[in-house]
Amino acid sequence: MNIMSLVKFLIALVGALAFVLVISFITTAIYTPIKDKGTGYNYPIPEVAVVKEQSAPTQTSEAATEQDATPVEPAEPAETTSLATLLASASVENGKKVARKCIACHNMKPENKNMVGPGLWGVIGHKVGTHVDFKYSKVFQELSAEGLVWDYENLNEFLTSPKTFAPKSKMTFAGIKKDEDRADLLAYLQTLSDEPVAFPTE
Ligand code: HEC
Repeated sequence: MNIMSLVKFLIALVGALAFVLVISFITTAIYTPIKDKGTGYNYPIPEVAVVKEQSAPTQTSEAATEQDATPVEPAEPAETTSLATLLASASVENGKKVARKCIACHNMKPENKNMVGPGLWGVIGHKVGTHVDFKYSKVFQELSAEGLVWDYENLNEFLTSPKTFAPKSKMTFAGIKKDEDRADLLAYLQTLSDEPVAFPTE
């Protein structure tokens, strides 16, 4: 019995030693000191770190570029092109098409008679709300009393949203949302006159 115990003990001891050896072998493999960096895990950490370090300056420079681009972005004038610029390249042809929306209510011929709305021949350069024999709404009478004269700017504003420009106007028309279409329409309106008014230059 005693001998058997001793044998068992020795086997256990040898097993334990073998276990320790194996563990030590594995740990040595893992914990190999990295050259020039002292002891540490031999993981590919440097790569991650390098990627971060490399991408960080790139991002910064990108951000810097974006920041640089931001002040440039007030290239907004390009988005909201001035009326003068739009008029300079406006298409009378397209303006005539846009004007189809108006002829249900407006006469646009030299005869200039009143329909649902007042005649529009020669409206640019004409005093607001003063077409002969047309019964204007209160708001138009007020604008007229102020001495407002139709020019490209205020007509452009009016046609963007009649309701905003002249609240409670009798002109129940939603407006023309597209800047180019309005400019084209204005260019067409310019032709509807005995004495066409020149476009603004700026
Ligand atoms: C639903 C009918 C209707 C449509 C569509 C309409 N208008 Fe009018 N418009 C009117 C009426 C009514 C008035 C008079 C407004 C008032 O007295 O409040 C008016 C007034 C005007 C005036 C002011 C004229 C003046 O003598 O001061 C202009 C300019 C004008 N319209 C342009 C247009 C143009 C351009 C279009 C097409 C894009 C258009 N309208 C579409 C009914 C219309």
